[in-house]
Order: sequence, then structure tokens, then C-alpha cells
Amino acid sequence: MTALHTTTTTTKPEMPFHHKHSPRATATATTRFFSPKLSVYLCSICVTLFILFHIKILQTPLPSSPSSLSFLHNWQEKFTTADDADSGGSLCAQDLKSMSDKLRESVTFLPLKDLRYANAALVGHTWFMSSLYDTHEEGEVQYQQFPSESSNGRILCIKGHDKHDGSWNYYALAYPESLPKNATLVGGRTFVSYNHYDYGNIWHGLSAMVPFIAWHIKNGCALPTRWILYHWGEVRTGMSPWLSTLMEATFGGPMNIEKFDDGGDDQATVCYEEAVVMRHNEGGMSREKRMGVYDLVRCKARMMCNVELDRSDGGEIGLTLLMRTGPRSFRNETAVVEIFERECKKVESCRLRVAYSSNLTICDQVKLMGATDILVSPHGAQLTNLFLMDRNSSVMEFFPKGWLKLAGVGQLVYQWMASWSGMRHQGTWRDPNGDNCPYPDDDRRCMSIYKHGQIGYNETYFAYWTSKVLNEVKMRKFEEASKGNIIPTRCACS
Ligand SMILES: *[C@@H]1O[C@H](CO)[C@@H](O)[C@H](O)[C@H]1NC(C)=O
Ligand SMILES: *[C@@H]1O[C@H](CO)[C@@H](O)[C@H](O)[C@H]1NC(C)=O
Ligand SMILES: *[C@@H]1O[C@H](CO)[C@@H](O)[C@H](O)[C@H]1NC(C)=O
Ligand SMILES: *[C@@H]1O[C@H](CO)[C@@H](O)[C@H](O)[C@H]1NC(C)=O
Ligand SMILES: *[C@@H]1O[C@H](CO)[C@@H](O)[C@H](O)[C@H]1NC(C)=O
Repeated sequence: MTALHTTTTTTKPEMPFHHKHSPRATATATTRFFSPKLSVYLCSICVTLFILFHIKILQTPLPSSPSSLSFLHNWQEKFTTADDADSGGSLCAQDLKSMSDKLRESVTFLPLKDLRYANAALVGHTWFMSSLYDTHEEGEVQYQQFPSESSNGRILCIKGHDKHDGSWNYYALAYPESLPKNATLVGGRTFVSYNHYDYGNIWHGLSAMVPFIAWHIKNGCALPTRWILYHWGEVRTGMSPWLSTLMEATFGGPMNIEKFDDGGDDQATVCYEEAVVMRHNEGGMSREKRMGVYDLVRCKARMMCNVELDRSDGGEIGLTLLMRTGPRSFRNETAVVEIFERECKKVESCRLRVAYSSNLTICDQVKLMGATDILVSPHGAQLTNLFLMDRNSSVMEFFPKGWLKLAGVGQLVYQWMASWSGMRHQGTWRDPNGDNCPYPDDDRRCMSIYKHGQIGYNETYFAYWTSKVLNEVKMRKFEEASKGNIIPTRCACS
């Protein structure tokens, strides 16, 4: 009886009801005039509460009532133990058990990819887990976490791992005590990534990783046990080696990417003890938070590659031409290199390096960027390396003919990235000459011709531009050096 009394009174403030007319007054009053006969009465209240409670949670996906689950659990436990001898009590326990079974069966699975949002896949909720809301504080990463207050203590369950159609994969939230039938509970922390683009593309892949790194920093450097990667709700089992290597450096170990290749049931249900879901890349994060992310990856990458965290090259100005082969390479590399060589020689302590990203290992790239103050490169994935330079370093970017009108906002990504990682994008050069397109200049069909074009040069302009940037960098480095008092870099999260 004491147990019963305790239950009713201590759970008072934790009632999951939001309405003014809550039955809590009745329940409390009952304990005062308690008699054994009343146990059946109490039980019926309890069952009513239970039903009301579940109607409530089925209707409102995300009320904020953190301990309602423990309330429920306690109540159920107390009834089954305290009133065992009492016929009313065991009847009640049976009812509760049946309620719990119903709850287990009522876990609702929805497709990971919501086709209703197919035309607005990047807007608002996205078509990934479209029924759920993100947690977002001003300037911080947007994320979902399970279990959490906003999930009402429920955890994330996933059914299916189709690699071709995301509408065949499903998700649901369930109470750890009432998991769907046959579900497997997996321990540890699972990072669930949604990327609208491709994990093989290092720019898009890195964008998808940024929010996890931000979450990791924000949560005391908490680490993932495993990763699940989605693209349009379809499972992806890998990412570009450049990216996975940098992520290994950042999180201090191999990425355990879920491959679902156990050969088992295609529609098996797996529930995750803890899950963190990201579906908006760096969206919503302030520039400061983004810089913190890039600072961490840069720092960890240097540690992994045994590159010194702070330069000791006596104020050398590193001017690096990072070349491409094939599309968007310079048509006459010799001529371009000559121009930069000439300008570099005019500035004391300038050092020119010419490299091809295609034959550099990842650590070669980390090392090269660590010695670069000015990165000169055509538009292309190799430019993603730019954040590996020290902060405040410079970028000069080159485009072939036709991109300005036809390539859309995608051509701005390295300008964005320079800004997000604390670099200075010092302009672009767009080749006025190039392959001819038989259609008008802004016809979309021209892009397929321009896309693979090469880049020429303008000696006068290149010389002027390079000399201007070199002198700015020289001034900046001089000012920074004269401040003295350099604090050695320490990586966050180490
Ligand atoms: C659960 O697994 C059993 C045995 O493998 C199977 O017979 C049953 O149909 C499964 N139930 C559901 C709901 O998948
Ligand atoms: C490339 O430029 C160099 C130096 O300006 C010149 O000598 C050479 O002929 C050019 N090569 C081609 C293929 O145009
Ligand atoms: C690097 O790649 C370029 C072009 O693919 C090639 O010409 C060069 O020989 C390669 N090796 C080195 C060490 O630069
Ligand atoms: C970058 O430049 C800004 C503005 O000039 C300066 O305040 C900041 O200290 C510099 N940061 C680093 C890391 O050099
Ligand atoms: C090269 O650049 C200079 C300086 O911007 C410009 O005046 C000139 O017209 C350009 N030459 C060509 C051939 O486009």
C-alpha cells in the first residue's frame, strides 16, 4: 500500500497531460480514503490513464515530457508487484501487459523517403524522416537525437536497408520497453547521415560530415560507435577515401559504416540505443561554429600525418599551384607556371610549388596545404583541400568559358567554403575563350560542352592578380609576425 501511495504522489508532477482537466486530482484524493476494495477502482483509473496516455502520444509526435516513460514503467511495475495477492491487482497487471503488447504492435513505420516532398527535397523537413523535427538553437547545428526529451524517451528503429529505393526503407520511434516484435536492439551511439548528394564527391561528402563534427564538439567530444549513410533514403556503404581518412583522423579511429551485408532478412527491424540524425549539412550553423569544425579537422589531420601544427618555416610565403588533369585543366600549363614563377621571384621569401592532386596521398595533401598561403587552382574537387591551409590563407580560382551563365550556384561552393573555414577567397578568373557552342550562350545544352573545357590564360591579368595577392599576404604575415607572442596550437577534443 505504501508503494501505491508513493507512486500516485511522486508521479504527480510528471503526468503527461497538457490539458487543464487532468485526472491527477482524483488519483490523489483516492489515496487519502484508501481501502482494499478500491484497488479495482484504482486499477481502472490506471488503465484509463494508460489508454489516454497512449492516445495522446500517438496523436502528438513530440510532446516534451521527459519522464513520462519512467512514470509509466514505475506504475506498471508497482502494480504487478505490490498487489500480486489481490485479484484486482493481477487483473490490472494483465490489462497492462495487454496494453503494452498493443503499444508494441502500434509502433508505426513510415518510409524514410517521403515521396510527397520529392519536388522540394531540400526544403524544410526534407523528404527524409519527414514526420520528425530537428532540434535547433541559434547558430548551432540542426540535429535529431534519440532518445531525448523531444522524442519522449523513444528510440529510433529502422526497418529495411534497400540500396536502390529509399521508399522501401522505414523508420519508427519506439519505447525501449515496448520495441516492435522481432526487433534487434543495437547498443552504442549511431550517427545517421542523410546526404542529398553523393558521399563519393568530397565536397558534398564533407558537407554531410560537418554537422556530426559540430555535434561531437558540442557534446564533449562524444564519439560514434557506427555510421549509417543515406542518400534519398537509400543505404550507402562507403565514401571517398579522402573523406573517410579525414574522418578517421577527426574521430580518432576507423569509421564503422553499416553495410547491412549480413545476408539476413531484408526487412529486419533494428532499434538503436542512441542515434543522432543529421539531414541539413551545415545549414543553420554560424560561421564561427563552422570554423570550429574546420579547425578541428585540420588539426587532427595534421596530427595524423605528423605535420607540425604551427609552421616553423621563418615566414616563408607558400604559393601552390594545384593542377588538374583532363577537364578544367590549364590548356598550357607551362605558360601558366611561368607567369607564377616570375611573380613569385619578385617577392622575397615566396616559394612556388606545383603539384597534381591526383598523385598526392592524403597526407601529402595535408602537408602541402600546411605549407601553403596562396592556393592557385581551377574550380574542382581538389579545391576542397583549401580548409587544410592555416586560417586566413588565400585562394585564387579559375573557370573555363561558359560557367558564369550556366553552372548555377554550385560554382560558388569554394567561395562559401573559404568563408566558412576562415580563408580568403581572392577572386576568380573566367576564361573568355573556349570551345564554341552552336546554341546561344545561355542555352543549357552548352553546359555539356563547357563542362569539360580547358582553361587558357591572360598573362597580363594573371601577373597583376598574383602580384597583388602576394603583396597582401606578405603584409599580413609581416603584421602577424610583428605581434609576436604566438600561442602554440592545440587540437580541440584531444
Ligand atoms: C518474428 O519472428 C518469428 C520467427 O522468426 C516469425 O515466425 C514471425 O513471423 C516474426 N514476426 C514478425 C511480426 O515479423
Ligand atoms: C605554351 O606556352 C609556352 C610558353 O608561353 C609556349 O612556348 C608554347 O608554345 C605553348 N604551347 C602550346 C601547345 O601552345
Ligand atoms: C603526377 O601527375 C602528373 C600528371 O598526371 C604526371 O605528369 C607526373 O609525372 C606525376 N608524378 C609526379 C611525381 O609529379
Ligand atoms: C585572421 O585575420 C583576422 C583579421 O585580420 C585576425 O583578427 C585573426 O587573428 C587572423 N587569424 C589567424 C588565425 O591568423
Ligand atoms: C587580359 O587582361 C587585361 C587586364 O585585365 C585586359 O585588359 C585584356 O583585355 C585581357 N586580354 C585578353 C586577350 O583578354
